[in-house]
Amino acid sequence: MGFWKALAAAPLLALAAGGGLADEMGRMDYIQGCAGCHGETGMGQGPLAELLTIQVPDLTHLAAQNNGKFPMLEVIHIIDGRTGVRAHGGPMPVWGTLFKQDAMGESGVFGGPEAVARARILSIAYYLESIQQ
Ligand code: HEC
Repeated sequence: MGFWKALAAAPLLALAAGGGLADEMGRMDYIQGCAGCHGETGMGQGPLAELLTIQVPDLTHLAAQNNGKFPMLEVIHIIDGRTGVRAHGGPMPVWGTLFKQDAMGESGVFGGPEAVARARILSIAYYLESIQQ
């Protein structure tokens, strides 16, 4: 069983755990997929950031910038990228599509590749919530 296949139950698990386990799963995807631009600490100084013409935002103050409340749903939509809610439609990869393609062939998973993609996005969102300053 593939790693992400095992994770297909993650949305439920993540909700039940209210963070914790989900943070750790999300952290792995964050380091692999996001840290290049947003920096390992989330403060926006990844090695790719200097190659971009627009500023890479600090992801550790999303709650602070939103009256102290982490904008979970918005963050999920921004990461997913398929819903049209983009920060500015800039260079951010469309993770919803990428994660789904990544999981193609894992049809044995309940909910299929779409469920795997959502699990990964939600886990990353929980991770980001856990690193708010
Ligand atoms: C190629 C560089 C790059 C990568 C990789 C990248 N981002 Fe971004 N991200 C940006 C840039 C630039 C912006 C601001 C402009 C925009 O949204 O296009 C941004 C914006 C965001 C925002 C909105 C922040 C705000 O202040 O509104 C979130 C949340 C975010 N990224 C999360 C992530 C996550 C999570 C990942 C990994 C799954 C990721 N990004 C991967 C470059 C990147």
